[in-house]
Amino acid sequence: MCCFFLAPCLVLLAVLLLSSGADALQVIDGSVTVVQGDTAILPCKLRLTDSTEDLIQITWQRRTREKPSNDNFITVGPSQETRFVNGRDDRFKYIGNFNDKNGTLQLSNVALKDEGSYTCIFTLFPSGNQKTEIPLKVTVPPFTNVKENLPTLGTEEVLFATCTAAGSKPPAEVRWLTGALGDKVRTTTNSIQYDNGTTTTVSSLFGVPTREISGQWVQCVISGDFLTKEISLPFTIQVYFSPTEVNISLISEDTFECVAEANPKAKYNWSRSGQPLLESAVKVEGAKLQLLSLTSGLNGLYRCEASNPHGSKHSQLYVHVASGTCSTAWTLFGLLVSFNVIGAAVWGLSKSGYFKKRYHLVSKDSKNGTNSQREILQEKDLNCLSRGSQLTAVESRNG
Ligand SMILES: *[C@@H]1O[C@H](CO)[C@@H](O)[C@H](O)[C@H]1NC(C)=O
Ligand SMILES: *[C@@H]1O[C@H](CO)[C@@H](O)[C@H](O)[C@H]1NC(C)=O
Ligand SMILES: *[C@@H]1O[C@H](CO)[C@@H](O)[C@H](O)[C@H]1NC(C)=O
Ligand SMILES: *[C@@H]1O[C@H](CO)[C@@H](O)[C@H](O)[C@H]1NC(C)=O
Repeated sequence: MCCFFLAPCLVLLAVLLLSSGADALQVIDGSVTVVQGDTAILPCKLRLTDSTEDLIQITWQRRTREKPSNDNFITVGPSQETRFVNGRDDRFKYIGNFNDKNGTLQLSNVALKDEGSYTCIFTLFPSGNQKTEIPLKVTVPPFTNVKENLPTLGTEEVLFATCTAAGSKPPAEVRWLTGALGDKVRTTTNSIQYDNGTTTTVSSLFGVPTREISGQWVQCVISGDFLTKEISLPFTIQVYFSPTEVNISLISEDTFECVAEANPKAKYNWSRSGQPLLESAVKVEGAKLQLLSLTSGLNGLYRCEASNPHGSKHSQLYVHVASGTCSTAWTLFGLLVSFNVIGAAVWGLSKSGYFKKRYHLVSKDSKNGTNSQREILQEKDLNCLSRGSQLTAVESRNG
């Protein structure tokens, strides 16, 4: 009978004692969260109005990842002197006030190993010890990057890039914003957790490496509790390919330009078959070949090679300069037999009192053998050049 009443009373008494003990200590925040490398304040202040209690000592204990047993590590005496118990660690600094019964401790350059529980103990006379525990949480922001996988043109799905958030705590969320690409791309996400509590999260972006997808802009977004705002890593999908067809076209009266689609951009090299380029008569500037003077010394086959690290391709241009009479029209003929294998372009001009230019382009599809013709007419009045001359250029293309 007695025990039936007594047991609940004892429990109640214990609860009252515990809560009065906790009430005596004021902790500004029950738990402290700090970013690795920052400074943590471990607040602890005794809210004891009873001045008959004398404070003898403040003791700090800790139980951390590094030291899993609860050990004393700092004591503070009445003259504010701080004593390290198990080895000195100058990152800890007592910033409280002993007379004020304030035990607050500062820890600078917080490391992951410092994570754990810190106990602040006030040794009072005559009542004994009063203590409180402050959990310290350490967050670690991730190292982030997007790594390109250098895909080349193809029809099978490949990995375009990986986005990594390495060594974060808590784990990062990594996702791709692929906008209009929709289901043309696919993503997968994996993570590995390490013993020290950090996690590496990797998200991969896959798709078919087509010409169309190259140049598309996507973003890898990394978020987590360690950050106040998300990290956005923009990324442009690149699909690499060697120069495709090489086109030679006339871009002004006397200048040809070589154009090839390639990724990365092609470098161009003009050369002349069998002999060096005539430096006095032609000028080469990157993709451009300029004929400085129309002399028969120019006659011959010129070759433009477009190349990048993935391969090269070339086209040829046949130049023939013939003397002619000063007729009324300067006609320019460009014959381009293009597409897959062979092509030829004939370009002729004659000069006269009235400078008329005509660009005549014939395209021939070597697959079905039919000719399609395109004509580009340009007419201009210019001064007559004393002597007429005629230039014929034949372009032939090799695959
Ligand atoms: C205890 O000391 C710290 C550091 O000096 C101070 O920031 C804090 O306000 C003090 N606590 C109280 C309750 O006075
Ligand atoms: C956690 O462990 C991993 C793997 O051992 C290591 O690469 C990383 O640097 C560690 N992180 C911290 C903050 O100590
Ligand atoms: C080359 O010329 C063909 C025919 O005019 C055209 O379809 C193609 O787009 C051109 N290629 C480049 C790289 O300019
Ligand atoms: C350009 O092409 C010619 C002939 O193929 C070659 O001899 C020369 O080395 C090339 N120049 C460059 C800069 O690649």
